[in-house]
Amino acid sequence: MRMYDILHKKREGGELSTEEISWLVRAVTEGSVPDYQISALLMAIYFKGMTPDETVDLTWEMARSGDMADLSPIPGAKVDKHSTGGVGDKTSLIVGPIAAACGVKIAKMSGRGLGHTGGTVDKLESIPGLCMDIPRERFYEIVNRTGIAIVGQSGSLCPADKKLYALRDVTATVDSLPLIAASIMSKKLAAGADAILLDVKLGSGAFMKTLPEAVELAKLMVDTGNKAGRRTAALITDMDMPLGRCIGNALEVREAVEILHGTGDKRLTELCLELSAGMIVLAGLAETREDALSKAREAIRTGRAFKVLCDMVSAQGGDSSCLEDTGKLPLSPCGLTVTAAESGYIAALDAEACGLAAMELGAGRESKEDEIDYGAGIELLANKGSKVEQGQPIARLYAGSEGRCERAKERFLSALSIEKEEPEARPLIIERIG
Ligand code: URA
Repeated sequence: MRMYDILHKKREGGELSTEEISWLVRAVTEGSVPDYQISALLMAIYFKGMTPDETVDLTWEMARSGDMADLSPIPGAKVDKHSTGGVGDKTSLIVGPIAAACGVKIAKMSGRGLGHTGGTVDKLESIPGLCMDIPRERFYEIVNRTGIAIVGQSGSLCPADKKLYALRDVTATVDSLPLIAASIMSKKLAAGADAILLDVKLGSGAFMKTLPEAVELAKLMVDTGNKAGRRTAALITDMDMPLGRCIGNALEVREAVEILHGTGDKRLTELCLELSAGMIVLAGLAETREDALSKAREAIRTGRAFKVLCDMVSAQGGDSSCLEDTGKLPLSPCGLTVTAAESGYIAALDAEACGLAAMELGAGRESKEDEIDYGAGIELLANKGSKVEQGQPIARLYAGSEGRCERAKERFLSALSIEKEEPEARPLIIERIG
């Protein structure tokens, strides 16, 4: 087989065969085709697209390009959840324990944050002592005992995706729907769960900025997962404003604890209950969404979900007393309060700009090598739709230095607009697919 022929076929809008895709992914993984030919192919795919069969083939081959997790030592239905990334999205810390408390097995690999979006690994690592790199046998043992373990993504998972993603990043081909679907779903297939729930974010803080794009991506990923033999469903959810009250690693752990105690932000609680219910249904542990929702609510009300989080944190070496008393979690020493310049309604609080402000505070990284300040971030005292009076505190910023707080304040203010009219509320759950 020749790379030139594959390139020519795709340039003309042809459909690549299973054999061609298999050859291609092997060649990418082994490094036997030059980057300029791979880059040209990515651009051809960007313009000509891929058929559903090609997308499934690409996904499977990328999944098989590295280690495939074997979760068979864990009895029961293993369900994974994936969010396409957002600002203040701490749902894995909440939904995992709720679903596990309802009998779902969660053996999860998560990623680190990059750019304006956060990552579950960084949030969990803000808990002193917690280890995200656990030997396989111990990982199985923790899931079997507590119902859940969350570890960092293994370096040998989907090497073909690493190579292709790095080239997409520098060739302006990241936002191709089949390439995004194959990239996300290959890692989910390799992570080994029987079923997958996708939370496709829509809005200013998300990859997908329009509803038709988000629906197309969600359908493509759901079809790809189902064709690959994994029960898959998706929710499209709003990411036009930050999710919940906190952005930043330890601050988000505090907020996760509040939600698990049943005392947190209503909108975030609603999303977490919906996602938990989706996972419970996919696991076959409830017939209907309503039944699953009531199980999820019960897991919070009885404190079982909070206990599952504490058990998981202790099993992974973390200090779970920080969850009992969240005042023991790191908090950066410099604080700055942002107040409303005028009275009115918060008409917009742009999620992406808030994520960038959190990054300025030290809560996120611009490049993979950057160090994170776990105690840095933003505590929102109001959000889109809130009525505020002039001088009322809107947010509290935390960082390691006053300079960082001042720079972040500028960014935060650029995210904010206050109007006289109350803005129209956008639904949190925009669409359900699958
Ligand atoms: N997340 C991924 O893992 N891959 C993409 O292509 C986009 C988002």
